[in-house]
Amino acid sequence: MDKKTVKDIDIKGKRIIMRVDFNVPMDKGVVTDDKRIKAALPTIKYCIEQGASVLLMSHLGRPKGGPDAEFSLKAASEVLAGHLGKPVIMAPDCVGLEVEKIAANLKPGDVVMLENTRFYPGEEKNDLDLAKKMAALADIYVDDAFGSAHRAHSSTEGITHFMDTCVSGFLMEQELEYLGRAVSKPEHPYIAILGGAKISDKILVVETLLSKCDKLIIGGGMANTFLAAKGVQMQDSLVEEASIETAKTILAKSGDKLVLPVDANIADAFSADANSKIVDINSIPAGWRMLDVGPKTLELYKTTLAGSKLIVWNGPVGVFEFPKFAEGTFGLAKLLAESGAITVIGGGDSASAVKKAGLAKAMTHVSTGGGASLEFLEGKELPGVAALDNK
Ligand code: 3PG
Repeated sequence: MDKKTVKDIDIKGKRIIMRVDFNVPMDKGVVTDDKRIKAALPTIKYCIEQGASVLLMSHLGRPKGGPDAEFSLKAASEVLAGHLGKPVIMAPDCVGLEVEKIAANLKPGDVVMLENTRFYPGEEKNDLDLAKKMAALADIYVDDAFGSAHRAHSSTEGITHFMDTCVSGFLMEQELEYLGRAVSKPEHPYIAILGGAKISDKILVVETLLSKCDKLIIGGGMANTFLAAKGVQMQDSLVEEASIETAKTILAKSGDKLVLPVDANIADAFSADANSKIVDINSIPAGWRMLDVGPKTLELYKTTLAGSKLIVWNGPVGVFEFPKFAEGTFGLAKLLAESGAITVIGGGDSASAVKKAGLAKAMTHVSTGGGASLEFLEGKELPGVAALDNK
């Protein structure tokens, strides 16, 4: 995992093609969260300060069958230009004659945003002809798109077959460093926290983290299935019947490592305005469901996290989108913020939760990857990372 970075090579006067993950949320043509754009700024700024010119490429959304204005990267390029304080040339395509002309005329410090790579269906098939055309635009490939590193696509993997120099950017480096701690050589005591709806989505993550951590806190819908496997009456709570046997096996081999909820904030319907009450985990009445952990569980989290050196968190412990059922997740975010430990938030819903709790800046690292961080925590080698040059 020791990958070369842009700092390990000479880039002065060179043309760089840089894969970023500008797959940002949009609403009616407006970027509604620019975290991923901001996260790529250090690498882009470094390259232009060193006298390189930069062609940025990314996908946006999942367009089907060709160019579609709804999925244009133009709005993202404007947000980027605002952050850089300089113009960004918006290219009409990501490969082809016009783009080749733009690339040939670049001067040191110029920045180009190539159009959505997924306007070519070949991108997701890792089409090597497309990858070759991308590679022909520049001298060096820089990958700063951790969020897309689990995809073996033309712009993340294929292109590396046609370029002599393929290095990581600073965001990629940071993601690998912090998420890397979760799966190799973690500081101890190391507490992992897993939430989210389904065990079946995270079974490999549970197994990988269990083998590395000192305690594994399980919350959210996943906890329901573990509790049901222990014989707790979960009533109308979401329980994955098909995963109960798996949960039993994990419980049997995890010793006292697993930390499950001891009380619950329950609801009489799955809705934001449902009636709610706090009950002991063994006293959920018929017709009710667990939508969040209760205060005694938060106390248990507090004692479990006390003195820890590393905390890795993936997945909320309750339905935090409903304010009535957000206390567990937000309370947990606060415990992490106050823990004094290295705190690593594994993307997706948990990243949204710490942001909503106003605590993103209090964490050591909040991953920009959703699916990528999950696959990384499963212990898998990501194709976009594997393809980069080793130190
Ligand atoms: C993400 O948002 O997780 C990445 O940008 C990958 O997007 P995808 O799931 O559409 O490949």
